[in-house]
Amino acid sequence: MSALAAMLGTRHALIQAPMAGTQGPKLAIACSSAGALGSIPAAAVSLETLAAHLAHMQSSALPYNVNFFCHQPTPIDEAQHRAYQAVLAPFYAEFGIDAARIAPASGREPFSEAACALIEQFRPQVVSFHFGLPTDALLARVRATGAQVLSSATTLAEALWLQARGVDAVIAQGNEAGGHRGVFLENWRTAWPKQPGTLALVAQCAHSLRIPVIAAGGISDARSVRAALALGAAGVQVGSAFLLAHEADTSPVHRAALRSSAAHPEEHQTALTNLFTGRPARGIVNRVMREIGPINWAAPEFAQATAAIAPLRSAAEAQSSGDFSPLWCGQNIAGCRETDAASIVSSLIV
Ligand SMILES: Cc1cc2nc3c(=O)[nH]c(=O)nc-3n(C[C@H](O)[C@H](O)[C@H](O)COP(=O)(O)O)c2cc1C
Repeated sequence: MSALAAMLGTRHALIQAPMAGTQGPKLAIACSSAGALGSIPAAAVSLETLAAHLAHMQSSALPYNVNFFCHQPTPIDEAQHRAYQAVLAPFYAEFGIDAARIAPASGREPFSEAACALIEQFRPQVVSFHFGLPTDALLARVRATGAQVLSSATTLAEALWLQARGVDAVIAQGNEAGGHRGVFLENWRTAWPKQPGTLALVAQCAHSLRIPVIAAGGISDARSVRAALALGAAGVQVGSAFLLAHEADTSPVHRAALRSSAAHPEEHQTALTNLFTGRPARGIVNRVMREIGPINWAAPEFAQATAAIAPLRSAAEAQSSGDFSPLWCGQNIAGCRETDAASIVSSLIV
C-alpha cells in the first residue's frame, strides 16, 4: 500500500472526484467498496441533504471524502444579472420565458460554520476544498477532527500556497479536467487562459512540493494513471470516467451527451465556459456555448450566472435537450463507460 493510500485509508491511491450535481452516496460507496476513496460533493446540496448523505456514508463504515467550495461570494449584482439576461434574450423569446420574472440569486453557498459542524459530527477520513481554503479558524476546526485536508491547485504558485498553509496533499488540477477550475490566487478572468495542462502541472508540483501530489484532469484509464505516476504524482483523482457509471446520478441529457461522445470520441468537444455559473468550468460544447461563445463577459460572478440561465435549462431539458445545461466533462473520456463503478475503479488500478 502506498503512503498516500494509507493517508486516505484506502487500498488504492485513487480518489473518485467529487462531482456536484451528478453523484451522491451511491457512487461514493461503490468506489470506496472497490478500494478507492469515494467522495461526497457538498456544493450543490442543502445542509439537510448533506447531513443525510454523510449519515449514509457513515453507516457504510467505509472511508470517504467530503468536498466543499470555499469561494468568496460577491454581493448580488442586479445590473450584471440584467446585462446577462439581455444576452440571453433571444433564447427567452424562443421558449416564451418572461425574463422580468427571473430574480437574481447568489447561487452556491461556500463552506460555513454550519457545514463545519457537520464535519465535526460525522468526522470523515478526508475533507477536500475547491477554490482555495476556508478561514484559518474553520480550517483549524476541520483539522481538529483528525481529517486529512486536501485542496485543488491549478498552478504551481497555488500548490505552494496550499502547502504553506498545511494541507496534507495537493490535487494538481490540469486544464484537461472536467468541471470548475479550482483557481483561487488570481482572478479567474485573467487566469483561465493560462492554466497549465496536467502533464506540466503535475511534473512541476512533484518537483517542488514535499507533500503528496494527486493528479487530476484527463486521467481516465490505466495508461493515463501510469503517465501521472511517472510524472511524480503519488495518486490520482478521476472524475469524468465515472459519469456514466450505473451508480452516478448524471442527468438524462448529460448521459445522452456522454454516450454520444463515448461512441464518437472523434467528435468529443469540450470547452471552458462561464455561462452556467459565472466561473470557468469544462463541459461538452452545446448550443448556448456555440451561439454566444463559451466565455461571455456579461455573465455575473460565481454563482450568480445560474439564475439567468436556469429557466432555459429547465425548458430545454423538459424537451430532452441539453442545449442549455452544464454538461461538465473532461477532455479524455477513454474510460467513461456504462458499467458499474467497481469495474471503472479496477480499470484504473496499475
Ligand atoms: C461533472 C463534474 C462535476 C465536478 N464537481 C466538482 C466538485 O463539486 N468539487 C470539486 O472539487 N471538483 C469538481 N469537479 C472537478 C473534479 O474534482 C476533477 O478536478 C476533475 O473531474 C478531473 O478531471 P477529469 O474529469 O478529466 O477526470 C467536477 C468534475 C466534473 C466532471
